[in-house]
Amino acid sequence: MNLASPHVVNVKDLRRLARRRLPDAVFDYLDGAADDEVTLKDSERAFKEVIFKPRFAVATPACDLGVTVLGHKLALPFMLAPIGYSRLMHPRGELAASKAAGRNGTAYILSTMSGHKIEDVKAQSAGPTFYQLYLAGGRGAAEGAIARAKAAGYKALFVTIDTPVAGNRERDARNGMKELMGPNWLKKMKYVPNILTHPYWLAAFIADGMTRPFPNIVVPGSGPLQAVDVAAALESAQVSWTDLKWIRELWSGPIVIKGVMTVDDAKRSVDAVAQGIVVSTHAGRQLDGVAGSLRVLPGIVEAVGDKTEVLFDGGIRRGADVVKAIALGAKAVLLGRGYAYGMAAAGDAGIERAIEIFRADIIRTLKLLGCSSIAQVDSSYIALRLGFRVD
Ligand SMILES: Cc1cc2nc3c(=O)[nH]c(=O)nc-3n(C[C@H](O)[C@H](O)[C@H](O)COP(=O)(O)O)c2cc1C
Repeated sequence: MNLASPHVVNVKDLRRLARRRLPDAVFDYLDGAADDEVTLKDSERAFKEVIFKPRFAVATPACDLGVTVLGHKLALPFMLAPIGYSRLMHPRGELAASKAAGRNGTAYILSTMSGHKIEDVKAQSAGPTFYQLYLAGGRGAAEGAIARAKAAGYKALFVTIDTPVAGNRERDARNGMKELMGPNWLKKMKYVPNILTHPYWLAAFIADGMTRPFPNIVVPGSGPLQAVDVAAALESAQVSWTDLKWIRELWSGPIVIKGVMTVDDAKRSVDAVAQGIVVSTHAGRQLDGVAGSLRVLPGIVEAVGDKTEVLFDGGIRRGADVVKAIALGAKAVLLGRGYAYGMAAAGDAGIERAIEIFRADIIRTLKLLGCSSIAQVDSSYIALRLGFRVD
């Protein structure tokens, strides 16, 4: 697959290649969101309502993209977000993401819904690796995963709080995700013709052993949780503030609360001794109708930005989006689909290409803004269209 320019110049091109390689069920799982996908669309639209205010005739010889997150120096202002079922998109999935993050001097956050083992993912990267926690499989399973993450050298826990149940992802229902992940071959038959039209994905999937249990959700007494569709897997995943106290006792390192969308939850996170929060709508896949996450970012930064590290994700498709989120107060951002389309299209090479595109975009944007490092970016470089903020 030719990933070089002019075949691939932006994330949309990687999305197009991912769509070509993946069966509909897998592509829509990656691309889709909940209900009418209003939040997903607003997440992308919100960036267009942030207007740059450049300073021209300023020398910007080198652009330093370094940031510090949870005490770790990262060479890039973006990390790679947890993406469940990455191994379904590409056999190397989480291994490829971890390796690419490490090679490029940034961090990878491994999802609980990983197809690869905690230890194997960490072994791909000498850089900081963080573990995203759901309580899928109950507290016993979570306790095992936390202990393994600690032993393997993961540096922080990202606890996702926005998933009391899975959102209503209608594309998944239509594409038979539940049937395809289930054991009954008769029920799968209806969806097989579309899969057969994607032979490269299918051959890789078969060679990889097809669906397998979640290696990091090991329920005491009954072993690894069987691979099921996302709604079933998340049934027991709900995290409460009481659970967070329990998690705090098990994990002495930094805890980051992922999925904060209000000042109230941001303050509760600080009270729960979170070293960081991720302002996030979970890619618009949970409660549809919440604002694009960029709209709530300034209010949350004003409320807790001096007490905790405010990270951000949602709708980032260009390097300029990364710069805008940082101008609005995020310390760093997480790329979700921005790298996952690359992973789905071409594994390791696809993620490398995504990172390369974002890095070049950010440097160009900074130079055009007249700003010589990401650390200098602040709200003086932007203006907001009327009605942008949601507080
Ligand atoms: C296919 C897919 C799977 C995801 N799986 C998880 C997950 O397992 N845990 C989690 O905390 N967030 C998960 N997320 C949310 C991402 O971590 C991140 O918040 C989101 O993708 C950012 O939005 P963006 O895709 O618009 O960049 C997932 C997102 C996608 C698109």
